[in-house]
Amino acid sequence: MVLPFEEEDRKKYYKLLDEVFASNFWSDGNMTRRFEEKFQEFTGLNACAVTSGGAGLLSILEYVNVRGKEVIVPANTFWATAQAAKKAGASVVYADCNKEDLCMNYADMVSKVTPNTKAVIVVHIGGHIAFEVEKIAAFCKEHGIALIEDCAHAHGATWNGKTAGGYGLAGSYSFYATKTMPLGEGGMIVSRDKDLIAWMKKFRNYGKEVINGNVVTYPMKEGFNYRISEFTAALGIVQIERLPRILEWKRRLAEKYDQIFDNRVIFPKGMESGYYKYIVFDQNLTEETGKVFNATDFGNEIEGTKLNLPNSYWVAGHHKCAPIYHGWDKAELTVEELRKYLVKNP
Ligand SMILES: Cc1ncc(COP(=O)(O)O)c(C=O)c1O
Repeated sequence: MVLPFEEEDRKKYYKLLDEVFASNFWSDGNMTRRFEEKFQEFTGLNACAVTSGGAGLLSILEYVNVRGKEVIVPANTFWATAQAAKKAGASVVYADCNKEDLCMNYADMVSKVTPNTKAVIVVHIGGHIAFEVEKIAAFCKEHGIALIEDCAHAHGATWNGKTAGGYGLAGSYSFYATKTMPLGEGGMIVSRDKDLIAWMKKFRNYGKEVINGNVVTYPMKEGFNYRISEFTAALGIVQIERLPRILEWKRRLAEKYDQIFDNRVIFPKGMESGYYKYIVFDQNLTEETGKVFNATDFGNEIEGTKLNLPNSYWVAGHHKCAPIYHGWDKAELTVEELRKYLVKNP
């Protein structure tokens, strides 16, 4: 299967590329600003583009300054989440997840807090918002702990209209090639806090900023290069405009799956998933696209330690994903045809 990218969107992209060539700015120009503005409009949050989802997490952790402190992350996530905390100089403490949403378990997180806990990273696994995020956010606020949201899977996820990345201090989206909104590579830091985003725009550029075509330098010893190129930003503009169509396509397929699978992740009232994945606990699903994460992906396993995280290991052993990647060629089948195609004993 070839990843879908319609002719009219290609033309739009090529036109934007011509604008980049004409501008003489191949990095740090208007295309990046326009992409950020569009992402901002989509999420309702301030936005700063960076080179990857992982770079976004690392940047937020640098802002919080977690060096020598503890950061609580779920075991059930990609290694990027824990690795970002390690690279920022923290020690990582692993928390368990819930069986219902595969995301961080509030009670286990609370039990792992110590006087040295500086941040918690909640991961919106599979494209929906973590069911306990509001409780986690309230707890973190009360205890002066920074809540960071890993939104790598969460494009289009909302809960009563609020997007992923709006619950804590800041969130980081990934535009890696397999994500719901792929750019090949890239990431976006989002936050309600304008000052945090202003800091990020300098941090991602060694403490420099281009203002009205002029480079302004600020003394910032922690700054580094996490800029995206203007060519990536041009693709970002096309992709954020395509995202509502991609989400609609996924949601239409998910509605059919809802009629096939009873034993699945069931969202609370008011929550809309972006359906990065469609997650079931039905062992009769045979045409699966693999797991969101296997137990071997857990950070503690990568570090070679076994921990008491019963729900995380249960989830790794019991969930499966039905195909929901954009462009899947069977998506137009009827519910009954899909049932026959996907399920062993329909
Ligand atoms: C949960 C999660 N967090 C972070 C990342 C890292 O994103 P990136 O590859 O853009 O650095 C990924 C996957 O790529 C992910 O699945």
